Amino acid sequence: MISIQHNQSLKSYNTFKVDVCTKYFAVFNNVNELIDILNNEIIQEEKILILGEGSNILFTKYFNGIVLINNIKGIKINKETKQEAFVSVGAGENWHAFVLWSIKQGFSGIENLALIPGLVGASPIQNIGAYGVEAQEFITEVKYIDLKAKEKKILTNEECKFDYRDSIFKNKLKNKVVITEVIYRLSKKPKHNISYSVLKKELEETTQIISTESILNSVINIRNRKLPNPKEIPNGGSFFKNPLVSNTKFKTLRNKFPNIIGYKSSEKNMKIAAAWLIDNAGWKGYKKENCGVHKNQALVLINYGTATGRDILNLAMQIKKSVQQKYNITLEEEVTIL
Ligand code: FAD
Ligand code: EPU
Repeated sequence: MISIQHNQSLKSYNTFKVDVCTKYFAVFNNVNELIDILNNEIIQEEKILILGEGSNILFTKYFNGIVLINNIKGIKINKETKQEAFVSVGAGENWHAFVLWSIKQGFSGIENLALIPGLVGASPIQNIGAYGVEAQEFITEVKYIDLKAKEKKILTNEECKFDYRDSIFKNKLKNKVVITEVIYRLSKKPKHNISYSVLKKELEETTQIISTESILNSVINIRNRKLPNPKEIPNGGSFFKNPLVSNTKFKTLRNKFPNIIGYKSSEKNMKIAAAWLIDNAGWKGYKKENCGVHKNQALVLINYGTATGRDILNLAMQIKKSVQQKYNITLEEEVTIL
């Protein structure tokens, strides 16, 4: 029998370390336990929030519903060919541990995504990405429980409608599913992507050998230099997405701001580094009372101690307003705000 707790603090369940409470709270270890909880009388009218490691979420108030912590474990090779392995991963597995497991098996592909906090179950939600690689390149299927029908469902890669920091789970299926398992297709031969210039430079400077392990180590080095470890400095990673603008708008901006950083995203659009926009607007290293902007990465907002979710949200809104005024660009939040 699963125990449902009342009035549980969520402070240790979000990487911003914001201290809010939830009305109800439970942990599930498998699909049967999840269904048991969903059938429990006391939660029938309650809002449901599925939480992984809380590394992409900002709580601004008491959660008036039930928070369910996904603890479904297990990594299994379902099928192997000469070239590839199809690996089924429980949604409650830690993402970085899965990356390390994959490298230990001699598989390649997801090494660029090392050290991203969170659980495997969240990896399809915003199609996690870093250093030139996105999860969508390796996901073949996502298994989930439909919260209303309480039935098992499967989506293929195409049906997930993946895009930059986006998928069907942030749109049509938002708050309607519990992802229970993700199937990854990994390469048994080296499948390296060193197109991201910072990664390429790091590899050139540290080792001449391009291997899955050297890419892993380089990614870890870069991330440790740039991004604050949430265990030491509470944060939620990039607070905003990198905005897309038309080529014409980018040209106009570049005339005004010659150092602006942008990358080709499609034939029509450029992706602008939001960190540069915020940095160039003077926010990097800003600190007010208990929250601020990281000194090495202007896209990362930080809780220096006892900031509330509201304090962090207020700072984010100030930044958003200043970016709007300076560049006429509306930043979109990457972090889920509740
Ligand atoms: P949570 O924060 O717990 O949840 C995020 C959202 O997904 C919530 O809306 C939640 O309800 C929903 N959700 C979670 N699990 C499930 C499930 N099983 N079923 C249904 N819904 C679910 N992201 C990147 O893409 N690239 C990066 O390089 C990156 N770097 C980061 C660095 C730092 C220091 C931090 C703090 C974050 C970073 N992130 C990055 C963001 C974050 O790590 C990812 O979004 C990660 O996938 C979130 O996982 P989580 O388990 O913590 O999800
Ligand atoms: N830059 C600045 N000022 C800063 C920080 C960066 O001008 O304060 C410049 C850098 O010099 C660089 C550019 O901005 O030219 C981009 O910086 P970086 O390589 O650090 O990447 P990013 O665009 O800021 C994105 C992701 C990260 C991911 C990295 C690496 C988004 C919103 N963020 O950051 O993901 O780790 O690329 O691929 O796409 C996350 O999603 O939480 C996250 C951390």
